[in-house]
Amino acid sequence: MIRLVVDTDPGVDDAHAIMAAAAYPDARIEAVTTVKGNVSLERTTANACTILDVMGINAPIYAGCEQALVAESGGAEGFHGADGLGDSAYPPSPRKVEAEHAVHALIRLANAEPGALTLVALGPLTNLALALRLDPTLPRKYRRLVVMGGAIRSMGNTTLTAEFNFHADPEAAAIILRDWTPLTLVSWETTVEHPFSEAQVKALLAHDSPRAEFLRRISQGALTFLEHLFGRPTMLEPDLLAMAAALEPEIVRRKATHHVAVELSGALTRGQTCVDWYGMSGKQPNVELALEMNTERVWELLQAALI
Ligand code: BDR
Ligand code: CA
Repeated sequence: MIRLVVDTDPGVDDAHAIMAAAAYPDARIEAVTTVKGNVSLERTTANACTILDVMGINAPIYAGCEQALVAESGGAEGFHGADGLGDSAYPPSPRKVEAEHAVHALIRLANAEPGALTLVALGPLTNLALALRLDPTLPRKYRRLVVMGGAIRSMGNTTLTAEFNFHADPEAAAIILRDWTPLTLVSWETTVEHPFSEAQVKALLAHDSPRAEFLRRISQGALTFLEHLFGRPTMLEPDLLAMAAALEPEIVRRKATHHVAVELSGALTRGQTCVDWYGMSGKQPNVELALEMNTERVWELLQAALI
């Protein structure tokens, strides 16, 4: 049984990832921690409640940081909708959020059962960085950390060179990459190289269930956005790919371990992911990069959540 803690900023693809995890027979979501990212903390937390409602999951939800560690950052409403869930207009969830701060929860949960929990980070790394500063032993106490973030070949989706989650809180990303070893990273380039096909998108949308209705309503805006961009129906699933790598490590068909750091001061390149592809820095490899993944299996994980 894979026991998950999910740190997230839902977000349409965050929702897909949480749905897949909630439906996965051999996994249990033990806690969800939220962070400001795609939309405000208030909204990401409300969205996490709605997603767990739709999936019928009782895991506790802890609200985390409402700002990045150092600099102000914008959201991704243009893609995810003003509400973060495709402007799907689901009524507010009656679910109660826990009083404990997400950062304290991340520390407490790992210390209560060292080695038991897998942490999956789907948003800016603000909560994780603060937790790590308060408790540097966390990397030994979580069984695994899988992160969605970074543009490993600097093909940014937020600036020319930076990916959204790393750009939203570069200092937090830098702390985690430097001090949380080992970790697995699913990058933006790996996401773009593993899109859902038109047939896969159609099949997902064709399901007839309340969960499928939720998926359709939250995803419509993102699908339209991507169709304009690529000229054909497709779906990119950064957070679902990261979740899939946590649920089934063999879904990653090719990986490589390199030293990776985050640029903090570039005038044009703040938040850029710097990968030492050729071992030139002499620094110890610290990050396992997921390079090729089994897209068909990733798709199956999401479609299993719609039944
Ligand atoms: C990441 O940014 C967010 O908009 C998505 O939810 C994903 O976590 C992709 O760059
Ligand atoms: Ca996300």
